Order: sequence, then C-alpha cells, then structure tokens
Amino acid sequence: MHPYNLGLLMAGRPRVLPSTVGSVWEILQFIGVPLTGKRAVIIGRSLVVGKPLAMLLLQKGIDATVTVCHSKTEQLTEITHEADILIVAAGKPHLIGKKHVKRGTIVIDVGINVVAGKLVGDVKFDEVYQLASYITPVPGGVGKVTTHYLMYNLVKSYEHRR
Ligand SMILES: NC(=O)c1ccc[n+]([C@@H]2O[C@H](COP(=O)([O-])OP(=O)(O)OC[C@H]3O[C@@H](n4cnc5c(N)ncnc54)[C@H](OP(=O)(O)O)[C@@H]3O)[C@@H](O)[C@H]2O)c1
Repeated sequence: MHPYNLGLLMAGRPRVLPSTVGSVWEILQFIGVPLTGKRAVIIGRSLVVGKPLAMLLLQKGIDATVTVCHSKTEQLTEITHEADILIVAAGKPHLIGKKHVKRGTIVIDVGINVVAGKLVGDVKFDEVYQLASYITPVPGGVGKVTTHYLMYNLVKSYEHRR
C-alpha cells in the first residue's frame, strides 16, 4: 500500500500488490475464467482493497470493464446485477443478497465483520451461493489467501531489496 507500489500499479507496472488485492487476484486465477471484457463491479473504494483492485483489473492484458461503488452510489442493485464478477469490500455485514446478483456471477466476499460473536462477510452466503457460479465464504475465503499472500509479499520484497 506504499504510494510507490501503488504508483507502479497505476502506471501499469505492478510489482508488489496490496495483500488483499493479491488474494483476490489469486482466487480469480484459480477459478480460471477469462476476465477480458467482463464486467467487474467492486463495492468499496479504499486504498487497501477497492482502488488498487480496480487498477489491477483495468490493466492491459487483464482487460476487465470495471465499476467501483461506494457508500454514495445510487442504484447499487442495478449496478451489481450487471456484474460478471462482483467483489464486495464494504465492511457491511450481509449488504449483498440475491436481489443484487444475476445467475452465474462470480462473487468474491472480502468483508470481515463480527456479528453476535461470529465472523460474517458482506454477502448473504446462503442466498447468493445458489445463484453464483463461484462464491468465496467468510471465514475461510479471501482472508485465508491474504495471509499467505502477505508472506509471499514479504519474501518477494526481501528478494527485491537493494
Ligand atoms: N479478507 C481480507 O483479507 C481483508 C483485508 C482487508 C479488509 N477486509 C475487510 O474488507 C472490508 C472492507 O475493508 P476496507 O479496509 O476496504 O474498508 P473501508 O476503508 O471502511 O472502506 C469501505 C468501503 O466500502 C464503502 N461502503 C460502505 N458502505 C457501503 C454501502 N452500503 N454501499 C456501498 N459501498 C459502501 C465505503 O464507501 P465510502 O468510501 O463512500 O465511505 C468504502 O469505500 C472490511 O470488512 C474489512 O474488514 C478483509
């Protein structure tokens, strides 16, 4: 998340991705669905997740069509309904339900919230998984991969040290 690394990402020469962004990218790679021309909708515009993820998916060679939503976005349901890939990083428990998702969408839930002592995501998993072609759970989804990506970044950064 250092401005230097974010600058490289912005310039189309990503080197060290923010760990959560790297995690989402690894999950998309694992799924293996081509992203070219696909409509990716990201909910959240933080420097940790939303903005750098949007930059990544916009890169030439990845070529998704990216929409970024935030707390002032109007008609969120209509926008998310157009998504081929919906990535939710709002930090609002169960913000996204079946009315937001068309059949076949890839849904990646970045959110981590504690409700009544339990970890829950931003997506109503039980509703949405029936529609989604792929969906990540919380816990056990993006967060788990992020932990590994953090270690990957640590080793990579060590190797790139001057
Ligand atoms: N799984 C992981 O590895 C991992 C890593 C990092 C973060 N997280 C989790 O991901 C979530 C987001 O983290 P963050 O650091 O990006 O949070 P953040 O800095 O609070 O940003 C949240 C974003 O969501 C937007 N938002 C909030 N409510 C919304 C709504 N009702 N509709 C549409 N957009 C809405 C906000 O809009 P505004 O900009 O207008 O306020 C903001 O851009 C949190 O639950 C966090 O714990 C998980």
